Amino acid sequence: MQLTLLVLVLLIIPLKGQGKKSKLKGTRWWSLANIGQPSNDLHSNTQLYNSPSLLPLTKRQRRLVSKNPGTILALMSGARMAIEECKYQFRNRRWNCPTHDNSHGGPIFGKILQKGCRETSFIYAITTAAVTHSIARACADGSILTCNCDYSMREPSAKADWDWGGCSDNAKFGHKFSRKFVDVLEKGKDFRYMLNLHNNEAGRVHVSKVMKRECKCHGMSGSCTIKTCWMRLPTFRNVGDKLKDRFDGATKVVSGNDGRRLPKDNNGSVRRKKKKGKGKLRRNKFRFEPVNFNHKPPGRRDLVYFEDSPTFCDKDTSIDFEGTKGRQCNATSIGIEGCDLMCCGRGYTSSEYTVKERCSCIFHWCCHVKCEICTRKKIRHMCN
Ligand SMILES: *[C@@H]1O[C@H](CO)[C@@H](O)[C@H](O)[C@H]1NC(C)=O
Ligand SMILES: *[C@@H]1O[C@H](CO)[C@@H](O)[C@H](O)[C@H]1NC(C)=O
Repeated sequence: MQLTLLVLVLLIIPLKGQGKKSKLKGTRWWSLANIGQPSNDLHSNTQLYNSPSLLPLTKRQRRLVSKNPGTILALMSGARMAIEECKYQFRNRRWNCPTHDNSHGGPIFGKILQKGCRETSFIYAITTAAVTHSIARACADGSILTCNCDYSMREPSAKADWDWGGCSDNAKFGHKFSRKFVDVLEKGKDFRYMLNLHNNEAGRVHVSKVMKRECKCHGMSGSCTIKTCWMRLPTFRNVGDKLKDRFDGATKVVSGNDGRRLPKDNNGSVRRKKKKGKGKLRRNKFRFEPVNFNHKPPGRRDLVYFEDSPTFCDKDTSIDFEGTKGRQCNATSIGIEGCDLMCCGRGYTSSEYTVKERCSCIFHWCCHVKCEICTRKKIRHMCN
């Protein structure tokens, strides 16, 4: 009896450990953000494959990166860009996109990734968008060996007074690479995985489908008789703003695959959507139904989640959140950055501090500016 128990325990322990590890395996590449410049002698593929900078990656990711030399730098800058943008977009909210030291192998954004709330969706979307953006731009910069500018934008007719031919950001390559690199980790048909895949794709689409035309004139003395145009990606701030809007309007969903939540016709028969063309990927077979029947089903660009967010008022180690104690707030605002909401009714403490500023600046002909240094007192409010 005791022996059986022991055997059982021995069997269970490693399984449990493995499950936990693989759950967040898909997020380990984010720690590339913390790595310094990798050494430059990364030309041979085997060298690259075995390089210590690639340790946070899985074998498949490492293979992908070493087949496409130059992508590692783009991935690193993408990871940093995502973290920075997330912090910027959420700077005034209770959950302010905290990041954690991941030297112990935990994910940079912490355990909130194990949840399925709006914040989790945003993290997936913004990180995937950042990879797409960073790779697409790096192609056009010529810093990836296996891709180039996208020269395929040539549609307009002869009557246009300008010509494609400029070097467009390679959104196609970025999109494809990001799929191979990021989505490969989301395996299985689990609801949560499908949700992550959807949010990943939403992130990518916000980058690759929103390009804008830029042109340059080549004519004599500024005349615009010859004009070359190309497609540029939006700035990443722009992508961040859009994704933040999607965060605000995110759809809470349940799995729509069991038929249970399919809308019924008047006569009670279940209405099924028509099958999509067979060119669609397998992932599209999985459907999300909005929890609220009055909402339309989420589109490709919408973020989806299935779990309500916590209040983010108090310290909560289960999501690696410190609470809003000590956060700075705005005493006169009634918004979420205002002390009332930010401090969750616990009140706040105000303190005075001094700042040194340049002041009374005078312009001297020609050409320099002389300023004095003034000391000013300011007041800071912090949540109790
Ligand atoms: C119920 O609706 C379906 C589709 O709208 C239709 O094909 C079917 O004949 C209807 N059944 C009855 C009993 O009205
Ligand atoms: C605080 O909020 C008020 C009202 O929304 C705004 O006018 C003011 O600029 C804010 N102060 C700071 C320091 O952000």
